[in-house]
Amino acid sequence: MPAQIIDGHSISSAVVEETKKELTKVQQLGIKPALAVVLVGKNPASELYVKKKKKLCEQLGIGFELHRCKESTKEEELKAVINELNFKHTVHGILVQLPLPKHLNRESILNSISPLKDVDGFTAVNLGMLLYGKEGFAACTAKGVINLIESTGKEIESSNVCIVNHSIVVGRPLAMMLLNRNATVAICHEFTRKLPEHTKKADILVTAVGKPGLIKAQMVKKGAVVIDAGIAKVKGKLVGDVDFEKVKEVASFISPVPGGVGPMTVACLMANTVKAAALQKSQQPDQKSSAAL
Ligand code: GUN
Repeated sequence: MPAQIIDGHSISSAVVEETKKELTKVQQLGIKPALAVVLVGKNPASELYVKKKKKLCEQLGIGFELHRCKESTKEEELKAVINELNFKHTVHGILVQLPLPKHLNRESILNSISPLKDVDGFTAVNLGMLLYGKEGFAACTAKGVINLIESTGKEIESSNVCIVNHSIVVGRPLAMMLLNRNATVAICHEFTRKLPEHTKKADILVTAVGKPGLIKAQMVKKGAVVIDAGIAKVKGKLVGDVDFEKVKEVASFISPVPGGVGPMTVACLMANTVKAAALQKSQQPDQKSSAAL
C-alpha cells in the first residue's frame, strides 16, 4: 500500500487555530504582538519566505515590520538595527532572514538578538535551552517537523531517527527535540560515509539538504515515516530531496514538497511571536505596584 501523504497545510492550520486562541488572550491584556524581520540584500528565495511571513502576520492581526539592509551592510550597522529592535516595546519577535551575505558573521549577528525576542530560536541561549530539554523558542522548521511526525500517530520514543542535515536551522535543534522525546538519533551530513546505511535503519527519516533525488527508495526502511524539508527548484518547480513517487511505495507516511514542512515553519513562527509577546508582558514590572514601592 502506498504511503499516506502528510498534509502540511491542514496540520499547519491546526497550529494557526491554536495560535489565534493565544493571540486573543494576549490582545485582551492590551498587547498587539508584532514581528520584525531584518532582510539583508535581495536573495529571491528569502524575499519569497519573508512575503509568506508577512502575509500570515497580516491574516492573524500580528504586526509586521520589514527592515531592509543593503547587501554591503557592515556588521556593526546590522547590529545597530537589531539593537534598536531589542529595545522597541512594540516589537516582540525579531528574525534575521538567513542566509546572510558571506562577509557577515552569522553567529555574532544572531546572538545580538535578545533571547526574549528570538522567535527563530537561533541564539546560543535558546539553542542551549534545548540541551536542557526546554523548548521555549524552538526553531520553527524543527518544531514543524516534530508536529508532522506527531500527526502520524507513530511513536517517537525508542524509534530510530535519521536526520540528514546538521545545521542550526534544522538538524541540530531537531536532534535535541527528538532526544528530548527519547528517540535514538543519527545526524548525517555531507561528510557522512555510506549514507544509505544510516537512512535504511530509520523508522523516521528527515532530510533537509536541497538536493533533488538524494533519498531513493532503496535507502528507506519499509514502513518508515519520511519528512522532506529539502527545497530546490527543478525546471521552475519546487521539489524536495526525496524521490517522492518511488519512496511513497516504501514509506508508511511521507510529506510532500511543496505543502509539507513549508507551511509548518511559518505557522510555528506565528506561535513563537505570540508566545514572545506574552512572555515580555509577564516580565514587565507591574506599573502600579512598582510605583507604590
Ligand atoms: N532561512 C531559511 N529558513 C529560515 C528560518 O527558519 N529562519 C530564518 N531566519 N531564515 C531562514
